[in-house]
Amino acid sequence: MRPRILTVLGTRPELVKLAPLLPGLDQRAEQRVLHTGQHYSAEMDAVFFRDLSLRPPDVALQVGSGSHAVQTGAILAGVERALLEWPAQALLVLGDTNSTLGGALAAAKLGVPVIHLEAGCRSFLREQPEEINRVLVDHCATHLLAPDEVARRNLLREGIAEGAIAVVGSTSVDAALRYVEGARGRRIVGEVLDRLGLPDARRLLLCTVHRAENTTAEALPRIVAGLNRVAAEYPIAFPVHPRTRAMLDKLPGAALSPRVLALPPLGYLDLLALLGCCRALLTDSGGLQEEAAAVGTPALVLRRETEWSYLITAGKNALVGAGEDLAERALALLGDAENERMRSAPCAMERAGERAVDEVMRRLLGA
Ligand code: UD1
Repeated sequence: MRPRILTVLGTRPELVKLAPLLPGLDQRAEQRVLHTGQHYSAEMDAVFFRDLSLRPPDVALQVGSGSHAVQTGAILAGVERALLEWPAQALLVLGDTNSTLGGALAAAKLGVPVIHLEAGCRSFLREQPEEINRVLVDHCATHLLAPDEVARRNLLREGIAEGAIAVVGSTSVDAALRYVEGARGRRIVGEVLDRLGLPDARRLLLCTVHRAENTTAEALPRIVAGLNRVAAEYPIAFPVHPRTRAMLDKLPGAALSPRVLALPPLGYLDLLALLGCCRALLTDSGGLQEEAAAVGTPALVLRRETEWSYLITAGKNALVGAGEDLAERALALLGDAENERMRSAPCAMERAGERAVDEVMRRLLGA
């Protein structure tokens, strides 16, 4: 018997991290994929379908942008409609976005078991929208697939039953390892080096910033000032998320130096091409911290905390924060010796896609 699974996705990170599971689930289950439309533009969405060879969704809600309540509410109602039309035995969601929460809540209210991939991640900062989303989803999920032991312990501490949790690893590793070699020859690298006047990528940094707390009128100018100082020594390629672009346009005082090259949001392969060859990544993204470690590039995290603490403990990544001392802290880690130490820090990064599919099937079929 093939169980019916409704898989809900809607944002860039969900596309990347669910991509390794979709073919396996299509093979072994009767799967429908619902795209909420939380991310909808060509550069935030369509390019990922192409780069990751994703199959098209079966249902598209096209909710688009809006306040958290408007966006989450539209997803909630849309997923409920889809589940009423096509009763599924389980609903699969990943991570911590409004699409994750809307999907999980709709299913839980209908008594449809929720499978949550990337369960148990915590920043312990309730003021972050992602933290609210992931805590709520974990507490209405039936099956919690955690990336690592730290996440499993977080769930146990919150009173989640041991049998509901399985550690399966992280699927961002699958995609990064699968595509990094193929991405190497992409034109974007030469273009970026030319525009920054660099002979090679040895001093090049890659940067992304998009989190709500880092894109306020107070936080973003501080980050830009820090990046400008770092770029005086190490030029930066900076694909700018739409939220960050909108805020930069409102803050004429927060101008990027000519050594920080602003780019539109990049597709997966272009991003991976730069990630695979640069000296280090500066980021506040969750997924990219693991993707960087998987391809051997040190990540300096523009936050005070991270859900991926195992990479910090292993010495692969480091927290540099997003405060006044960002540049000082980053520069201290960018010299040859420190950079090499982070690069060569041992840390097992395993592909998780197959294990996650096996776990889903075992739980739904009891086999
Ligand atoms: C969301 C997730 C976050 C994830 C991130 C990846 C939540 C609460 N947050 O944040 O966990 O790391 O996605 O990007 O769900 N926009 C476009 N084009 C698009 C999509 C969005 O221009 O295709 C604009 C929106 O109009 C909005 C801004 O980008 O102004 C933010 O989009 P939104 O989806 O609300 O949140 P993200 O910041 O992307």
